[in-house]
This record gives sequence, structure tokens and C-alpha cells, in this order.
Amino acid sequence: MNRFTTFGLAAALSLGLLGSGANAADDAHGKLPTRQSWSFAGPFGKFDQAQLQRGFQVFREVCSTCHAARYLNFRDLSEEGGPGFSEAQVKALAAEYDIQDGPDDRGEMFKRPGRPADRFPWNYPNPEAAKATLGVVPPDLSLMAKARSYARGFPMILIDALAQYQEHGVDYVYALLNGYSDSKDANHNDYFPGGKIGMAKPLADNRVDYTDGSPKTTQQYAKDVSAFLMWLAEPKLEERKQTGFKAMVFLILFAGLMYLTKKKIWAAAH
Ligand code: HEC
Repeated sequence: MNRFTTFGLAAALSLGLLGSGANAADDAHGKLPTRQSWSFAGPFGKFDQAQLQRGFQVFREVCSTCHAARYLNFRDLSEEGGPGFSEAQVKALAAEYDIQDGPDDRGEMFKRPGRPADRFPWNYPNPEAAKATLGVVPPDLSLMAKARSYARGFPMILIDALAQYQEHGVDYVYALLNGYSDSKDANHNDYFPGGKIGMAKPLADNRVDYTDGSPKTTQQYAKDVSAFLMWLAEPKLEERKQTGFKAMVFLILFAGLMYLTKKKIWAAAH
């Protein structure tokens, strides 16, 4: 085998591998989501507060009619690094919900207005009730943006690791919400593995009334609610990224100091 054949073989092989990565997109796996640009991506990523607030509005007015978010407490909404609602806003918001509490001193359960420390309530008393109405139990959305992912195949898996691409999950959620392409079948979704999903298209243009002038389109709603779900899945994302950056700066400075120290000590020995 001469050098050219070897080269040719290697090239063909790597192209084949690249190709097989892209082909992971068959019906059984669902189409490959496209990468979106997110404010929270990359080493300096930060959530966009206005976007998180809009995303919460979409979650609250649309998604939460079916889905639970059991790790969301009202007061999280005013925590640093989140949507940035004021404590007064959160208090007022919580009070709009009836929360089951008890038992009281007669042994009875009762309803009372929500408080900031309460968990965001689910619309259904239990999964069975949700299933009886919807046919399938809608999964809890608390960790969804990190729980779902998709295979990008070799060699993208290596490239993604190097490029610190960590938004597979949120890109999937965004693609899923925009993935209803078949006008004859309301439950067909291009991105859902198998193509048939138990959730009919939840979003439509003008469904949620934004007050900050952002476009009232399915795409914008999908983008905002996906960002919100990312925050919900990783509320300390900003802190983690900042700590990582500080650690890198520290290590670089420390390496410099060690180098100077080494030079000084060994200079004396000559
Ligand atoms: C009418 C009820 C309903 C509404 C409203 C709704 N969903 Fe769903 N959703 C479901 C059900 C049911 C499933 C389970 C589908 C299945 O497994 O086939 C589901 C599944 C999902 C999944 C998981 C898909 C997967 O990979 O397993 C995501 C993500 C999701 N919904 C996000 C949302 C978001 C975001 C919203 C709000 C914009 C929303 N849903 C609104 C009922 C709903």
C-alpha cells in the first residue's frame, strides 16, 4: 500500500465516521436539534433575567397546566442568578395559589394561600389523575433541560467536550417545542424519539401575553421557556462558571509565582 492509498483510506474512514455522526438522525432517534445561541453558554455564560422572567410566564401559563416542577419553590424566583423577581412579587405570586396543608387540630386537611417557602404546586393531585386526563403522565420539568440529551455521534462528542458545549438538553427542549411539523397529526414531533409524542403542540403564536415588547411567537416562547428550564435544572450555573473562571486565573497566577520562585532558588545554587 503506497502512501496515497493509506491517506485516501484514512480520509475516507474519517469522512465515514463524520457521516455516521450526522446519520444518527433517523426516525427512531428523532431529528438532530440545531444548536442555538444561549446567553448562558460558554465559560462566561450568564442568564438573561428578562428572558427567565418571560420563560417563567410561559411555564406558568402553559406548561404548568400539565407538568409539575417539584424542585421549584416560589422563593427560588427571587434568588440571585435567577429570574430576579423581588421578594414582594414572589409573595404576591405565591398568594395567588391555593396550597394544601394540614392536618389541622381536627385532623383535617385544608387549603390556604401560598407562601414563598411553598413548592410550586402541581395542577394534579397525583400521577394517576394526570394519566387519566392526559393519557400519559407528563414528566416533571425540574431537571428536564439537563436530563435529556441527544447523540451527536463521533467525532462531535469529542469536539463538544473540547468546546465546552453543554447545551444539548436545552437545545433539545427548544427543538422539541418547535418540532410539530405535520399538520395532519397533532402528535407527530420530528425530534421526539419514535416521532409520536403524547403531548400535543403546547405553544402557538400570541398564546402568552408578553408585556416587554418581545415577539409573541412560538419560537420566542420556546426559547424563553427553554432558558427558564435550564435555570430550573441548574440554578447555580452562573456561580459555577464564575468559580471555574476564578480558579483558572488563580492557577495561572500561581504557576507564574512558582516559576519565579523556582528561578530565584536555583539562581542562588549556581
Ligand atoms: C396538555 C398537557 C401538556 C402541556 C400544556 C405541556 N405538556 Fe409537555 N408533555 C405532556 C405529556 C403528556 C408529555 C409526555 C409525552 C410522552 O412521553 O409521549 C410531555 C412531555 C414533555 C417533554 C419530554 C419529552 C421527552 O423527551 O420525553 C418536555 C421537554 C415537555 N413536555 C415540555 C413542555 C413544555 C416546555 C411545555 C410548555 C411550553 C409543555 N411541555 C406543555 C403534556 C403537556
